[in-house]
Amino acid sequence: MSTRPGGPSETTKSASVSGVRAVVLVGFMGAGKSSVGAALSRRLAWPFEDLDDRIQAREQRSIEQIFRQSGETVFRQLEHAALRSLIDELGSSIKVVALGGGAFAQANNAALLEEAGLSTIFLDAPAEELFRRCQEQQMKRPLQGDVKEFRRLYEDRRPCYLKARLRIETAGKGVEEVAAEAIARLGLR
Ligand code: S3P
Repeated sequence: MSTRPGGPSETTKSASVSGVRAVVLVGFMGAGKSSVGAALSRRLAWPFEDLDDRIQAREQRSIEQIFRQSGETVFRQLEHAALRSLIDELGSSIKVVALGGGAFAQANNAALLEEAGLSTIFLDAPAEELFRRCQEQQMKRPLQGDVKEFRRLYEDRRPCYLKARLRIETAGKGVEEVAAEAIARLGLR
């Protein structure tokens, strides 16, 4: 997915009119959750939050350090606590949220989001494209592994992502195109 400049081209409906409170982007590593989240936030003029940033701020260490020093089990506990606090703080306000790649694959997190009645969107793409995007980003992702491990984890998790309310195919699309599609599909335009 490429980033192309662009801004709000059409008037967006307010959250109270559409009934949508928060848009939660889910999907595998490299799906574009953070970049599409930022574009959505700009187009809707809603605040944006990346759940991984909340975890890092609460812990005062990077995701990579949490995995290395404490392991994945502890990371998942921190992730769940961070999501719970985000939802508690949300109340009736509006927000665009990007989850880390594993968050929605944890049943307790998916249940929290469902109970809160938030709009979840699965940003989908083939494993090969996701792997290529991750390679290009040069960001250290503790669970990226080699292409075989990456694909296996993707296939394990895909059924969980498919439980999101909406699925948007992102292969071959730019960030702004995906954000515009999300707004239209949510009925926010
Ligand atoms: C993870 C994905 C990462 C981050 C952590 C675990 C995963 O987020 O939450 O490294 O389990 O897939 P991104 O999807 O933003 O890379």
